[in-house]
Amino acid sequence: MNIGMGIAVRSAAFEPRRYNRQNLVSCCPARCTIRARRAVNGFHSPVIMDSFFKYHVFFCLNQREPGASRPCCANCNAQEMQEYAKKRVKQLGLAGPGQVRINKSGCLDRCEEGPTIVVYPEGVWYTYVDQADIDEIVDSHLVNGKIVERLLIDR
Ligand code: FES
Repeated sequence: MNIGMGIAVRSAAFEPRRYNRQNLVSCCPARCTIRARRAVNGFHSPVIMDSFFKYHVFFCLNQREPGASRPCCANCNAQEMQEYAKKRVKQLGLAGPGQVRINKSGCLDRCEEGPTIVVYPEGVWYTYVDQADIDEIVDSHLVNGKIVERLLIDR
């Protein structure tokens, strides 16, 4: 804002503030990352205090051309399984902020071990074959926090 005589005063509302961990912590005593982001500089910041979702699950749905040198998850029913997981999580009332989010992803670069799922924040990697495996991951990991050892990629 210009207040005359060539003197410009920046409005506090548009004053970008630098990232400051202490500022973030004190601005967001609860779990709200959006509030924390706004507290930093008034627009979205890449800084994340904690997980917006309790579990964020990514299903690789990558599709490769026939004859590609690497396999792809799309050829292992990945899209159907992702849609199934999303529906199941919703039916259980687990979907939404602070709870569970089921997302699609591109190649997660573990093609030979797939089809792949990765669950954050832990970074737990699973593979699966059918709906029964998805049910087990949902019921055990996403509902009860217990990792399904038999479906782990990293054992
Ligand atoms: S195609 Fe799924 S991990 Fe690469």
